[in-house]
Amino acid sequence: MRRRAGTRPAVRSLGIEVPCFQRASRDGKPTGLCSEPPAVQGFVYSRDGNPTRNILEKVVAALDGAKYSLAFSSGSAASMTITHLLKAGDHIICMDDVYGGTNEYFRKVAVKFGLKISFVDCSKTKLLEAAITPETKLVWVETPTNPGLKIIDIEACAHIVHKHGDIILVVDNTFMSAYFQRPLALGADICMYSATKYMNGHTDVVMGLLSTNSEDLHNRLRFLQISIGAVPSPMDCYLCNRGLKTLQIRMEKHFKNGMAVAQFLESHPLVEKVIYPGLPSHPQHELVKRQCTGCPGMITFYIKGALQQAEAFLQNLKLFTLAESLGGFESLAELPAMMTHASVPENDRASLGISDTLIRLSVGLEDESDLLEDLDQALKAAHP
Ligand SMILES: Cc1ncc(COP(=O)(O)O)c(C=O)c1O
Repeated sequence: MRRRAGTRPAVRSLGIEVPCFQRASRDGKPTGLCSEPPAVQGFVYSRDGNPTRNILEKVVAALDGAKYSLAFSSGSAASMTITHLLKAGDHIICMDDVYGGTNEYFRKVAVKFGLKISFVDCSKTKLLEAAITPETKLVWVETPTNPGLKIIDIEACAHIVHKHGDIILVVDNTFMSAYFQRPLALGADICMYSATKYMNGHTDVVMGLLSTNSEDLHNRLRFLQISIGAVPSPMDCYLCNRGLKTLQIRMEKHFKNGMAVAQFLESHPLVEKVIYPGLPSHPQHELVKRQCTGCPGMITFYIKGALQQAEAFLQNLKLFTLAESLGGFESLAELPAMMTHASVPENDRASLGISDTLIRLSVGLEDESDLLEDLDQALKAAHP
């Protein structure tokens, strides 16, 4: 903590010299609480800022090629804080295939405060443009989507959104991480993360991050960050900073293992279909190559058979853990229809392709041959 060496006028009149701590305001400028002499910046209260969080925010800004970054107590807290940029009556367009928690927050919470929400397939830019109204103030996309791994053309979205005036384009970059995709360089206004996933990567922190190049957006979001107070602890900031030091080697290994698993599954007789953006068979593989520098360990595939085979496969896995999270060092597997996406209405699940045989994998950093061996034995056990 830096302190300024001023004294309080009232006390000074008694002839007593008391050090005066100057509180920095939300935009980093001095508040002038001590009227004289001139203020300097410093750390006064940990919610406003602390050295560990500041360092993390600088590192994330550098990774995103951004001027500014802010840290939050979870990805959901970052989403909520961004939404507080709006006011009652404003309209949000949200990708129809986003993380279920984002969908629920907009549908069940944001609407209570007078915000209007439309869910649109933003991979079809004509549908996005048709959904924009004079009240539209925020467009929210996630790419790749979960669990369908559909890719959104960020540059095309930014072009359309910014043609229509003062609309903020947010890209949830949780799946790709700052290592494989830089949404701000493609025209997004805000890039956000659930840092709980790849950015931290050690499955020991819940955190959210955002980056922006706009000074105006940064000042407004920084005010909201402090005012709402959904900030991470210094210990979590320290852990996330530690995680980021290995982002490059972790993401390269996730890509290598992910590719090996996707190719193995694609050639397996007990697998119906594999969806992996890194495979040439992915319908948007060319866009992936243009927009990203690699792919994370997220794979979805349809096992042959029915729910019984999907359940048997998951029960027989030994190295993959049955769990809902993703983006950590360890390999996880789940059944979206029964787990992460169980709250999505059945009709919507059907239209998004989330059937009882769709399995989602988060491929970790383990030895490649161990991963393939485990998948092979579990597939065989599911089809005795
Ligand atoms: C893509 C995506 N965005 C946002 C979130 C919410 O993040 P958190 O769990 O850190 O609040 C998640 C959580 O799974 C996610 O997968």
